[in-house]
Amino acid sequence: MKKKWMVLGLCGILAGVLSTGCENIGGPEKKKVIAIAMPSQTLERWNRDGSFMKKAFENDGCKVILNYSDNDPVRQQKDIERMLEEKPDILIVTAVDCESISEVLKDVKIPVISYDRLLRNTDTVSYYVSYDNYKVGKLQGDYIIDALNLGSTGKKTFNMEIMQGDPADNNALYYYNGAMNSLKKFIDGGVIKVPSGQLSYTQTGISGWDTARARERMQNILKKNYKKGKNLDIALCANDSTALGVTQALVAGYKGEKFPLITGQDGDEENLKNLLEDKQSMTVYKSLKKEGLVTYELAKQILSGKEPGANFCKQVKEICEVSFNIESYDNGVFKVPSFLLTPQVVTKKNYKQVLLDTGEYKERDGYLEAVE
Ligand code: BGC
Repeated sequence: MKKKWMVLGLCGILAGVLSTGCENIGGPEKKKVIAIAMPSQTLERWNRDGSFMKKAFENDGCKVILNYSDNDPVRQQKDIERMLEEKPDILIVTAVDCESISEVLKDVKIPVISYDRLLRNTDTVSYYVSYDNYKVGKLQGDYIIDALNLGSTGKKTFNMEIMQGDPADNNALYYYNGAMNSLKKFIDGGVIKVPSGQLSYTQTGISGWDTARARERMQNILKKNYKKGKNLDIALCANDSTALGVTQALVAGYKGEKFPLITGQDGDEENLKNLLEDKQSMTVYKSLKKEGLVTYELAKQILSGKEPGANFCKQVKEICEVSFNIESYDNGVFKVPSFLLTPQVVTKKNYKQVLLDTGEYKERDGYLEAVE
């Protein structure tokens, strides 16, 4: 598919309509239409991703169709079919199910940007924009190693439980592999024990990254494996919505001496509250504003008939550091050209610098609120 839309782009150039703003591409009278398909409004981040992108495109004179599909893959396919009837010029998709979505993309002839999650099994994808997902997991694993000084613990061992992401989300495997790359030697060496015995990617997956499912799984693990005040030292949680469920289960029924180290990802407001109250230890922060703005810039270039490559990274360097990768994200059909942003660890020690000083969050009643 990489090339299907290039033909459209070249026509644009030949017609002499190259421009940077949406209104002018294709003639001043025709507003460009941008279709944005997001997974769900119940997971905090997608609301912000959606609104950042909508605002950027609308400020540029585009019409935006923004849709959420309640985390239901079948509904998302129907929603996209409906959006395509409005003849958008570009489609930006974060899939609920990265595999099955290929069905609806089969006959799509406009450029498609795979946003945050990689669209699999399809050649109908032009670019992938995301954070380095493997690195997110690795940052969590490395944080645990440093915080507990796992390199020199003598005979001391640590109990850990794992909450992975949704196995239907391509990102989840990258995070898992990144975290395991750091932690596996400590698990194999017996420094980290997993009392539930549930360690594999599939055993630890939480469908829909759902808070309630994570809470329930943690409650069951506590009941079966942490009787009589046995300590849980580490909860490796792939993201903030799963970490939230774990914290809720622990607050309600954990009898150990010490609250465990809990990892997360995103910077959801409730989790940042937990971070300040010592009920979550870290989160891997990914500025959604930057991810949205990079995607907006990329879409603008594609709509102007360009085929962005490594040079694009220089063009967006004012927004943030981005790397161009043509090797790591094979979607089962081809290696999708990817623009990757760099995630950052946030803790109680550095949140002011990373979240407040950058203006991405503000303080409200002693807690943190994302700035729209
Ligand atoms: C995103 C995470 C998010 C998760 C659940 C993943 O694809 O990369 O940032 O926490 O989905 O919404």
